[in-house]
Amino acid sequence: MSHLKHLFSPIQIGTMTAKNRLLMSAMSINFGVDDAGNVTEQLTEYFVARAKGGTGMMLVGGGAVHPTGLELPHLPTLWDDACIPSLEVMTEAVRPYDAKFGMQLMHGGRQSYHDDKVAPSPLPAEAVVKGVPRELTLSEIHEMAAAFGDSARRCRDAGFDFIEIHAAHGYLINQFMAKNSNKREDEYGGSFENRIRFLLELFRDIKDKTGDDFPVGIRINGNDYIKNGWTLEEALKLAVILEQQGADYLHISAGVYGSTELTIPSMYVKHGCFVHLAEAVKKEVSLPVFTVGRIKSPEMADRIIKEGKADAVAMGRSLLADPEFANKAASGDLTRIRPCIGCCLGCIHNVLALEPGACVANPDVGREYQVKDEVRADPPKKILVVGAGPAGLAAARMAATRGHEVVVCDEKGHIGGLARLAAIPPGRGEIMDIVDFLRNELDRMQVEVRLNAKLTEEFIKSIRPQEIILASGSL
Ligand SMILES: Cc1cc2nc3c(=O)[nH]c(=O)nc-3n(C[C@H](O)[C@H](O)[C@H](O)COP(=O)(O)O)c2cc1C
Ligand code: SF4
Repeated sequence: MSHLKHLFSPIQIGTMTAKNRLLMSAMSINFGVDDAGNVTEQLTEYFVARAKGGTGMMLVGGGAVHPTGLELPHLPTLWDDACIPSLEVMTEAVRPYDAKFGMQLMHGGRQSYHDDKVAPSPLPAEAVVKGVPRELTLSEIHEMAAAFGDSARRCRDAGFDFIEIHAAHGYLINQFMAKNSNKREDEYGGSFENRIRFLLELFRDIKDKTGDDFPVGIRINGNDYIKNGWTLEEALKLAVILEQQGADYLHISAGVYGSTELTIPSMYVKHGCFVHLAEAVKKEVSLPVFTVGRIKSPEMADRIIKEGKADAVAMGRSLLADPEFANKAASGDLTRIRPCIGCCLGCIHNVLALEPGACVANPDVGREYQVKDEVRADPPKKILVVGAGPAGLAAARMAATRGHEVVVCDEKGHIGGLARLAAIPPGRGEIMDIVDFLRNELDRMQVEVRLNAKLTEEFIKSIRPQEIILASGSL
C-alpha cells in the first residue's frame, strides 16, 4: 500500500494500537437508540458497516453522561448501568473487524435540545437552540464530573477500546472553558486555570475509575471562532497540561453554535480547513494529535500525516457517505469512493431538526440493518431507468448491483440532470462529484446509458424492459 503508507500505518494510542490512522469522528446521528436509551440493531449495524469497511478507529457520538446533558433525543445514554448490555452487544458485533471502537462522552449543557438545560452560567446558546440554561451549583459541578467518570467506567465494562471526552464545539465542558459562556466568580470561572478546572477534574475522575491503561482522548477546539470565545493560544496552553495529566491523544476541532467558522464546514469551505490548528498543537506536545474538518481525499489525509501536521486524521461525513472509504482507499481505486459533497442537508440539518441523521449521497445511512443481507436478484430482470439525473443514476447503480440488466436513458445529451445546474454557482462544483461517482460506477458495471433518447413507445419497445423506473426529477 505504498501510495497511502502514512494513513495506513498503525498508530499507538496509550495502550491501544490501531491498524491505521483513520478515525471516524463522533457524530450524534440521532437514530438507533430506543426510548429507554438502549442501543438497537440500527446503530450497531451502522458501525459494523464502517468497521467492515476498514476504518481504523470509530467513535460513537453524543454518549450522554447525565440526563441534563442529552444533546438530541436518540443518543446513547450512559448515566446508568442499565446501558451496558446493549452497548456490549454493539461492541461485540464490531470486534471481529479489527476497528478500535470508542465512545465519545458528552454533556450538551446549554446546547442541549430539551428544556432542562444546565450550564456554567445562565446564558443562552448563541444559535440553533433556544432557552436560558440553569446555572450549575458547586455540588452539581462535582456531580457532573463524577458522571463522566462513571460513564467512562460503563463504557469500559461494555467493551469499548477507548473513550473521547467532548470538550469542544460549545458543549458543557467547552462552556466552562470559554470566557463568553462562563461568567462564574467561583473557582470554576475567571482565570484560565479556573475555566479548565472542570475538564481536569472529570479527566482525573475518569482515569481513577477506568485505570491508567484505558485510553482516554480529548477533543478540544483549536479555536471557537466566536467573539470572546476559546482561542488557539489557550488551546496550546491546555494541550501541554493535558499531556502532563496523562491524556492519550488530543483531537483538535473548532467552532461552537453560532461561530463564524462552522464545526461542520459546508462545500464552500476549503478542504482541511482546521489542519493548521492541529499543526500548531502538535508543535507543543508529543502525544498523538488528530485533525479533522473537510478532509475528503485519502491522499490529502496521507499528506497531512506525512508532513507531520497531525498524527491521525478524523473524518465524519466522508464515512457517512461511504462506509467502505478505507478499504476503497487502500485498494488504490479512489474513484470507487462515494463522496460527501459537503451539502450538510441529510446529516447535520436532519439531526438539528431532531430527525434521524441521513446522507443525500448514501441512502443506506441508518438502513444498514435492513440492507445488510440483500442478495442478488433471482431471476434478474431487464430494467429501463428513465432519467439520468442523480436519482436515476443511483437507481440504476442499485439495480445493477443486484444483478439486473439496466439501461438508463435521458432525452438530454448529458447525464447529471439538474445537479449540473446546481453545481454552476461558485463554490458548488462538488455537487458534480456525486454524478461523477455514479457515472464511474455505471461504467464499471457496464450499464448502458442512452443519451438524446426520447421516451417514445418505439424506444421502449426497442429496449424491451420488464420494469421501468421513472426518475425524471430529483432536485
Ligand atoms: C450529523 C453530525 C453529528 C455530529 N455530532 C458530533 C458529536 O456528537 N460530537 C463531535 O465531537 N462532533 C460531532 N460532529 C462533528 C464531526 O465529528 C466532525 O468534526 C465534522 O463533521 C467535520 O468533519 P468532516 O468534515 O469530516 O465531516 C457531527 C457531525 C455531523 C455531520
Ligand atoms: S448529507 Fe451531504 S454533507 Fe452530509 S454526509 Fe451526506 S453528502 Fe456529506
